[in-house]
Amino acid sequence: MNSTVEVCFVCLGNICRSPLAQGVFEALVKEEGLQDRIIISSAGVSGWHAGNPPDARMQQTARDHGIHLNSRARQFQSSDFNQMDLVLAMDHSNMNALEQMRPEPELQDKLFLFRSFDPQHNNDLEVPDPYYGGGKGFETVYQIVERTCPKVLDHLKTMLAKKA
Ligand code: 4NP
Repeated sequence: MNSTVEVCFVCLGNICRSPLAQGVFEALVKEEGLQDRIIISSAGVSGWHAGNPPDARMQQTARDHGIHLNSRARQFQSSDFNQMDLVLAMDHSNMNALEQMRPEPELQDKLFLFRSFDPQHNNDLEVPDPYYGGGKGFETVYQIVERTCPKVLDHLKTMLAKKA
């Protein structure tokens, strides 16, 4: 059976952290030949940058690692919870905003902090917002995202196996 699962990465503006997670995760899923089974997107809890490409500094960091980012920012809608299997918030503030808009308590099991999948989180569950910092912040985000995405993929593979 050809079931699919759908994941959405969510940050504040949808121009730095979540587009990077989307791009890195898309590359990983493609490498594993699962692009027809796993639907990937990203969104922001704000609509401040809706329609915009990822921040040039995030695009550059991604390119430095062979990843091309081609998303456009969009604001997450509470109705998105219905179609998503997994919604991953980049920090606690994003998580709180998503909890506020989550329509039904039974959708609770879809929402997690992205870094809860980070094998090296050491109880720090925030992907630090790089927007107002220097270039080093973007590389830090990349390192977190790169090591965390394979664990997210393991989780989605388990979900796929249960759906099949
Ligand atoms: P992101 O970063 O949430 O990782 O996309 C930000 C982008 C824009 C702003 C803040 C964070 N902003 O204040 O406009």
